[in-house]
Amino acid sequence: MSSAAHTDHDVTDMRDVLVDVRGVKVHFPIRKGVIFDKIVGYVYAVDGVDLQIRRGETYGLVGESGCGKSTLGRAILNLEPPTEGSVSFDGVDIASLKGEELRRKRQDIQMVFQDPMSSLDPRQSVESLLLEGLKAHNLIENDAAANQRLRELLAAVGLPPAALKKYPHEFSGGQRQRIGIARALSVNPKLIVADEPVSALDVSVQAQVINLLEDLQEEFGLTYLVVAHDLAVVRHISDRVGVMYLGALVEEAPAKDLYARPLHPYTRALLSAVPVPDPVIEDHRERILLTGDLPSPANPPSGCRFHTRCPWRQPTRCDTDRPVLRTVDLPGVPAEHRVACHWAEQIESGELRPHEVEAVAVEQMAGISQPDSPIIGPTSIGEIG
Ligand SMILES: Nc1ncnc2c1ncn2[C@@H]1O[C@H](COP(=O)(O)OP(=O)(O)OP(=O)(O)O)[C@@H](O)[C@H]1O
Ligand code: SF4
Ligand SMILES: [Mg+2]
Repeated sequence: MSSAAHTDHDVTDMRDVLVDVRGVKVHFPIRKGVIFDKIVGYVYAVDGVDLQIRRGETYGLVGESGCGKSTLGRAILNLEPPTEGSVSFDGVDIASLKGEELRRKRQDIQMVFQDPMSSLDPRQSVESLLLEGLKAHNLIENDAAANQRLRELLAAVGLPPAALKKYPHEFSGGQRQRIGIARALSVNPKLIVADEPVSALDVSVQAQVINLLEDLQEEFGLTYLVVAHDLAVVRHISDRVGVMYLGALVEEAPAKDLYARPLHPYTRALLSAVPVPDPVIEDHRERILLTGDLPSPANPPSGCRFHTRCPWRQPTRCDTDRPVLRTVDLPGVPAEHRVACHWAEQIESGELRPHEVEAVAVEQMAGISQPDSPIIGPTSIGEIG
């Protein structure tokens, strides 16, 4: 975790902001018909996200499979041009860039992917994989300098120089992820978007890769956006965490505040599913079990998108008014801790109690596939303890 975690930055101080995402929506058209290519609907993959990533910080983005995390990450790189809204990087609107300018900006933002096996070309040696980016961005002066640079990169990610002559299949999953990280680092980026960087790895290796990312951040002054469906992964690495549900942020806070005092019913449910090592606390831990499937992003619920599964759902506002991310009026909660729930204060004070949720059938649209990976939160109904 970078030192940004311990300072009281003002979110609005734009000099601090490296990435500024404003009102971003990414809607994918759903087409039907062979002869007449008709648009019959949209997948609202990202549907109104504002977020700022500050220089030198790690921003953790979490949420269930299909909630739009990767699409948002791709929108930040302009690999998925937003349907609405804007993304500024270092004060420049990415959508306004073309040709050489866009290429140079892309150098500043690199991605690390979940599955290093599929993101690394199996026919290329590590040497050629690492040289690729250097060549593309004209970063090679001569052979000797290139050789020196490759060795430095390998050393930075903890691999021996002999790795240069090997091919991706000759490495373990963790080592391959180190190569993926070295490749991202090779072009001296300012921001690394790491999309599920450790979810394909064994738990013991996960910690090593997370530690490596932290060390590299310190060494090279990097800023990270770390995307994960696992709250435990982002907890230790993140300065701030944003929780996404069906295309939008429902809560955002400094990591320590979010984990100590989750305010949104969805975050509460996700965190209540995480076991606590202390057996006394574990026995008395509140467990909030969610019911119902994640609704389809092609047909999101009205009002608060979480209302079909929310144990605190109220008869007014919840299914009609879409809550915005806002600061809350609660003692001890910093202004940076924002939540998109109409009733956050009343829920936190205990004035509103959770109730059983009747599963609401979610209409799926024909032709829309549902995410097949398991969700992070609990999946059955009720309220225990
Ligand atoms: N190119 C596309 N065309 C149509 N729909 C898409 C496209 N890319 C993503 N989607 C849909 O948008 C929604 C969000 O997808 P996305 O991959 O961003 O989710 P995610 O949060 O990264 O999920 P996961 O944790 O499974 O990686 C999903 O319903 C997905 O099926
Ligand atoms: S706005 Fe209503 S439905 Fe949404 S999270 Fe808050 S209480 Fe639940
Ligand atoms: Mg994804």
